[in-house]
Amino acid sequence: MMRFAAIAASLCLGLAALSSAATAADFGADRHVARGLKCETCHGPDMKNPNYPDEKTCLACHNRDDVAAKTKALEPNPHKAPHNGDCTLCHMQHEPEVNYCEQCHQFNFKMKNGAK
Ligand code: HEC
Ligand code: HEC
Ligand code: HEC
Ligand code: HEC
Repeated sequence: MMRFAAIAASLCLGLAALSSAATAADFGADRHVARGLKCETCHGPDMKNPNYPDEKTCLACHNRDDVAAKTKALEPNPHKAPHNGDCTLCHMQHEPEVNYCEQCHQFNFKMKNGAK
C-alpha cells in the first residue's frame, strides 16, 4: 500500500507539471472539475489510494445510448461497437485523448481533445 501511495503521489506531481505546461482545462479531468465534479467522484473517497476509474464510473453519469445518438455520424460508432473497450482507453482524463482502435483498425476518429 505504501508503495502504491508513493506512486500515486509522484504521479500527482507529474500531473501538476503537465497541467501547468498546457493551457488550463485542456484535459478531461479539468473540464469535469470545471463542471463541478470532485476528484473523489471518479477516484473514490481516499485520494491517497485513488481507485482507477473504469467504464462503470463514467456510465454513472453518461448513458451509452445517448452518447451513441449524439455521435451517430461516426462510422463505426465507437459507442456502439462490437468491442469498444473502456471509455478511458480513448477519453483519457489527465492527458490527450487517443484513438485506441487505431492499434488494429484504420478508423479515422478525431478525438476532440487529442494530441494537437
Ligand atoms: C458525476 C458525473 C460525471 C461522471 C462520473 C463523468 N462525467 Fe463526463 N461529463 C459530465 C458532464 C455533466 C459533462 C458535460 C455534458 C455532456 O457532454 O454530457 C461531461 C462531458 C464529458 C465529455 C464531453 C467532452 C468534454 O470533456 O467536454 C466526455 C468525452 C466525457 N464526459 C467522458 C467521461 C468519461 C470517460 C468519464 C469516466 C472516466 C466521465 N466522463 C465521467 C459528467 C460526468
Ligand atoms: C474509440 C475511442 C472511444 C471510446 C472507447 C469511447 N469514445 Fe466517446 N467519443 C469518441 C469520439 C471520436 C467522439 C467524438 C469526438 C469527440 O468528442 O472527441 C466521442 C465523443 C464522446 C462524447 C461527447 C458527445 C457529444 O457530442 O456531446 C461523450 C460524452 C463520450 N464520447 C463519452 C464516452 C463514454 C461514456 C464512453 C464509454 C462508454 C466512450 N465515450 C467511449 C471516441 C470514443
Ligand atoms: C472524470 C473523472 C476524473 C476526475 C474528475 C479526475 N480524474 Fe484522475 N484519473 C481519471 C482517469 C480516467 C485516470 C486514468 C489515467 C488517465 O485517464 O489520464 C486518472 C488517473 C489519476 C491518477 C493516477 C493514479 C492511478 O490510479 O493510476 C491520479 C493521481 C489522479 N487521477 C488524480 C486526480 C486528481 C487530484 C483529481 C482532481 C483534481 C482527478 N484525478 C480528477 C479520471 C478522473
Ligand atoms: C487488439 C486489436 C483490436 C482493437 C484494439 C480493436 N479491434 Fe475491432 N476488431 C479486431 C479484429 C481482429 C476484428 C475482426 C474479428 C471480429 O469481427 O471479431 C475486429 C472487428 C471489428 C468490427 C467489425 C468488423 C469491421 O471492421 O467493421 C468493428 C465495427 C470493430 N472491430 C470496431 C472496433 C472499435 C470501434 C474499436 C475501438 C474502440 C476496436 N474495434 C478496437 C481487432 C481489434
